[in-house]
Amino acid sequence: MTDLAERPAIRTVPDIRVPLPGPKARKHVAFDHEFTSPSLPRAYPLVPVRGTGSTVEDIDGNLLLDFTAGIAVSSTGYNHPRITAAVERQARDLIHFSASDFYLPVYAELAAKLAQISPIKGPARTFIGNSGAEAIEAAIKLARFATGRQYLVGFLGGFHGRTYGAVTLTASKAKYHAGFGPLLPGVYHVPFGSAGLDELEQRVFKRLIPANEVAAIVVEPIQGEGGYVIPDDAFFPRLRKICDDNGILLIADEVQSGAGRTGKMWAIDHWGVQPDMVATAKGIASGMPLGAVIARADLMSWSKGHHGSTFGGNAVSCAVALETIKLLEESLIDNAGARGEQALAGLRPLTMQYPALVKDVRGKGLMIGLEFDNGETAEAVQWACFVRGLLVLEAGENVVRLCPPLVVTADEIDTCVRILGEAVATVAKAPKSTYDESRRWMSIDDGEVDG
Ligand SMILES: Cc1ncc(COP(=O)(O)O)c(C=O)c1O
Repeated sequence: MTDLAERPAIRTVPDIRVPLPGPKARKHVAFDHEFTSPSLPRAYPLVPVRGTGSTVEDIDGNLLLDFTAGIAVSSTGYNHPRITAAVERQARDLIHFSASDFYLPVYAELAAKLAQISPIKGPARTFIGNSGAEAIEAAIKLARFATGRQYLVGFLGGFHGRTYGAVTLTASKAKYHAGFGPLLPGVYHVPFGSAGLDELEQRVFKRLIPANEVAAIVVEPIQGEGGYVIPDDAFFPRLRKICDDNGILLIADEVQSGAGRTGKMWAIDHWGVQPDMVATAKGIASGMPLGAVIARADLMSWSKGHHGSTFGGNAVSCAVALETIKLLEESLIDNAGARGEQALAGLRPLTMQYPALVKDVRGKGLMIGLEFDNGETAEAVQWACFVRGLLVLEAGENVVRLCPPLVVTADEIDTCVRILGEAVATVAKAPKSTYDESRRWMSIDDGEVDG
């Protein structure tokens, strides 16, 4: 086993020793495709085997700079000594004991910590599961149960997961619904942003469903999979008021935008609005599977047996979440804010240098999107970054997203800005051949990533 922890000191990152994808990667992709579900939306042929900080080593020994963090998950980077120590400590004590059926200490400790840091002021309670989708499912069930109402409203462009309730709320791409109907009944969608609230009030509440039968409105404070879309500033205060006026619960899906990524613990904190429930997952446990719904304590009115999970709130995942939150509070949220500013300042000139190609550079903290003229350009840029050893991910129809680990350094941001500049320059010169190169993999990989 190579000691990658020593490597960045002696190898600059990225360090591409074998042109990507290398021979071992190609062989592994062929093996994978024989045995895994073809539904998996692989973005490009990266075969990671280990990592440290923001560096990932692939199966051929290349070092890549990771601005995906396993889709906004590895918030504390790879191989963080305090995270691996927390895993080891908890694994030695107890890996699992169903917290639904018994009183697992670390589960309640995490619930108490989440109540303390949640954007809900006042008492809060938490249900802990294993994933983002499970957190959303719990939120849907609880919203219907607590209000006695059936309807739900989501936003076009929103992504909430792939289980039945969550996928019904998802409205970022039609493929998520293709062939799976009928979906959960009683779910409506409006455009994201203030114009969508006009539609909600003028059309949905007047012509489709009475507002007083809506249990909850589910919203990503910054849309993730839909293309890193930030709402206008009037949106959240008005949304809160619509909910208050009609007894509707506001559910913030912070699965991608939360856990410090935007330079605040929760993205909704940027607008000073309090939700009634918050769903968290991804970065909250540094890559251990954990999702949670935090709710106003008075809403958690359900009783024994109404909801639970065998694995949910696994002891190791909870211990890692507690350590992750400590690291976020100590320095990583601040780092996300500062490094995000640095990245935005470095990338914004691209809109002036390549106005036909780069339509927008936007973001908060380390949730940054580059919008291109079309999806082919975005895909070509993603590929041009990959072959140079920078990992980025498409989102929405024509966006490349950057969501690096929150431990990313100033030098690594500079490297990212430099490589992205080279990638965009290459695509500007030869858009078709870069796109075709990427597309050659599409016969194997469909190239669109979910999540
Ligand atoms: C905002 C948001 N909600 C929910 C989910 C679903 O999370 P999971 O894939 O852990 O089920 C995702 C996943 O990408 C997400 O981005």
